[in-house]
Amino acid sequence: MQRARESERAKQGELSAAMATSTSSIPPPCQRLPGKVALVTGGASGIGESIVRLFHKHGAKVCIADVQDDAGQCLSNTLGDLGTCFIHCDVTKEEEVRCAVDLTVEKFGTLDIIVNNAGLSGPPCKDIRNVDLSDFEKVFDVNVKGVFLGMKHASRVMIPAKKGSIVSLGSVSSRLGGIGPHAYTGSKHAVLGLTKSVAAELGQFGIRVNCVSPYAVLTDLSLVHLAKEERTEDAKAGFRAFSARNANLQGLELTAEDVANAVLFLASDDASLLTSAATGLSTVAWAGTLIPKTPTVPRTLVSFMPNATISFAELELICKRFKLLNVLRLEGMTVGRIPNEVGEIRNLRYMNLRNTRIDQLLKSMQNLKKLPTLDIRDNAYLRDLML
Ligand SMILES: NC(=O)c1ccc[n+]([C@@H]2O[C@H](COP(=O)([O-])OP(=O)(O)OC[C@H]3O[C@@H](n4cnc5c(N)ncnc54)[C@H](O)[C@@H]3O)[C@@H](O)[C@H]2O)c1
Repeated sequence: MQRARESERAKQGELSAAMATSTSSIPPPCQRLPGKVALVTGGASGIGESIVRLFHKHGAKVCIADVQDDAGQCLSNTLGDLGTCFIHCDVTKEEEVRCAVDLTVEKFGTLDIIVNNAGLSGPPCKDIRNVDLSDFEKVFDVNVKGVFLGMKHASRVMIPAKKGSIVSLGSVSSRLGGIGPHAYTGSKHAVLGLTKSVAAELGQFGIRVNCVSPYAVLTDLSLVHLAKEERTEDAKAGFRAFSARNANLQGLELTAEDVANAVLFLASDDASLLTSAATGLSTVAWAGTLIPKTPTVPRTLVSFMPNATISFAELELICKRFKLLNVLRLEGMTVGRIPNEVGEIRNLRYMNLRNTRIDQLLKSMQNLKKLPTLDIRDNAYLRDLML
């Protein structure tokens, strides 16, 4: 049974990876960003490249902003139609971020989505006494100032339009210490803080602000401690083994395409009620909604509820009882596998419903099952439902 489930998941993973890397687009009725315009910083390689490819396939027009001119231009050429463009943009420079936003609007007419993805991990350093301040500052410049500038300049366009989705890349290091270098961990905590703060301001204009916080993904960033010639297949296998040892979801590798899928979800209208400061309930990020794949049966539970507890067994029970396929935790969002304090969660691709009161969640779900349809735009209803 377990093996069958793993094999099914492996197939799903292969399918989503293949879909994210191929350049052919998805048939229009199934596209999730038809007619939308997006700007992706750090879009020339790694996770950003996967986001660009996936957005493009889902019908979005995409501006790639990066400091890697050749890779960015080449990606834009590969996608090869009038729906993408590249602009050189160092996200630490306000003028360049301003230009990237303006170029996107000039070329494609508006800006619906910005993905603040550009990031650096900085060099590893085991002893704080040896940290070079300029390395520390460089990481904060790209990871925090760069994200802030993206939010600021996207808002120039989104506020008058009274709509928009801002998605930034946090990290497992947005929540936990000891996984990355100090500067990286501090900067990614700051991305989460900025996300909550800006979400609180921009909600009044209908602009959603979220961040996605992935665990380790094999990219240039995660191999930064190795010189280019040392990034051998053996070294990559070593990285995978290290990640797997610390992961909850055994036998699955978190990929750039998985992260791109999470970003796609938050960027799309599927997440129309999700914002980090949604509902104004607290300054802690809170968002909760149920996304039905069919009108009546919710298949994916998306939630973020502070101050309660849930165990793996309880979570599994909920999933079985309500035939949920995926559980996403938004917080931002923690995608994939992270070490978690509650217990092992092995059977879910997305996970981490820490701090949820089981009785309340079950009651909510039972109530929901009685409803013939679910209007996911009813904010007040959801607030009552989930609390
Ligand atoms: N790889 C992981 O394990 C992992 C895990 C969690 C979060 N993240 C986050 O995901 C994001 C993407 O990471 P990745 O793994 O794809 O890294 P990557 O190094 O593969 O790609 C980063 C991209 O950002 C670009 N970039 C760097 N500095 C820039 C600047 N000043 N201006 C514009 N572009 C710049 C690079 O050229 C590159 O294209 C980062 O924010 C990272 O912190 C990565």
